[in-house]
Amino acid sequence: MLAVFAAEIDPDDPLRGLRVGEQPEPEVPAGWTTVRVKAASLNHHDLWSLRGVGLSRARLPMILGCDAAGIDEEGSEVVVHAVISDDAWRGDETFDPRRSLLSEKHQGALAELVAVPRRNILPKPPELSFEQAACLPTAWLTAYRMLFTRAHVVPGMTVLVQGATGGVATALIVLGRAAGARVWVTGRSEEKRAQASALGADAAFEAGARLPERVDAVMETVGQATWAHSLRALKPGGTLVVSGATSGDAPPAELSRVFFLQLSVIGSTMGTREELERLIRFCVERDVRPAIHTTLALPEAASGFEAMLGGDVVGKIVFTV
Ligand SMILES: NC(=O)c1ccc[n+]([C@@H]2O[C@H](COP(=O)([O-])OP(=O)(O)OC[C@H]3O[C@@H](n4cnc5c(N)ncnc54)[C@H](OP(=O)(O)O)[C@@H]3O)[C@@H](O)[C@H]2O)c1
Repeated sequence: MLAVFAAEIDPDDPLRGLRVGEQPEPEVPAGWTTVRVKAASLNHHDLWSLRGVGLSRARLPMILGCDAAGIDEEGSEVVVHAVISDDAWRGDETFDPRRSLLSEKHQGALAELVAVPRRNILPKPPELSFEQAACLPTAWLTAYRMLFTRAHVVPGMTVLVQGATGGVATALIVLGRAAGARVWVTGRSEEKRAQASALGADAAFEAGARLPERVDAVMETVGQATWAHSLRALKPGGTLVVSGATSGDAPPAELSRVFFLQLSVIGSTMGTREELERLIRFCVERDVRPAIHTTLALPEAASGFEAMLGGDVVGKIVFTV
């Protein structure tokens, strides 16, 4: 079958190991099923995999991709939940120490066929296209959990989103706004700030800018480049939720600020199947849709990876199969 896969790992030149070509169909263990992929979306996770973060050389070749929507073995339209927990695990699967994402231990979703545990498929509502549904399982689910489960954002709160146009950042803007929060963003260029405003951000600031007032919560995926600004932006008692460190993960901790202002620094990773169900319902009921930068046919996947590496993307890149 046709697939997009990592054939080599290169921490400095991730695209060097990227291949688009034939791969064997995935193994289907007991209790698993297959989904014929109609659309799959790209995440920064796929670049990390090509750099060898979360993926070792011993597992190569590995089909990339966490997110897919398609048709299951019964002919139903489905969305794939990307968090694979251990069969014996009960409760919130993001806390399972043995969990993985598709494309880490098991072959991923950028292919004609993906195998997943039966419990990882959810019905796709007819209101969402395959392309829209394929954006939800990683970036959008992560944003949903950051805002609502981890930061407990309620209407009227002011939320700062670091980074304007990434997959998670655009989801944070759209979901935060739809839930009644006042959403502020930082973006690295005038153009990116304008794009964030067009998506619904109430105000867009230069990276590191002094804000008109301190905020209730900050959503971090950028890491080192914005960490100090995130801590300075918070009200006393405010909450910083971090789910990524694209620019590096060793900023000064600023412990004095954390304890004097009694800040909460909270980690967040992906989300549960139940949260994905709620996110899908929220999108349908509130007419919320993912921002899609571009849709490409799977054989053209390399140009999507190049665009993400270049950072010139607004929202999600989707591949159709
Ligand atoms: N923990 C989890 O479960 C989880 C889930 C999803 C993603 N993540 C992580 O979250 C991060 C974002 O993922 P994504 O898929 O949204 O990636 P993406 O689409 O490539 O977006 C990258 C974002 O980083 C921002 N950014 C700002 N300053 C940056 C700098 N100095 N260097 C690089 N980027 C900078 C960009 O903002 P501009 O608009 O200003 O360019 C953009 O919003 C990744 O590190 C990813 O691994 C973690």
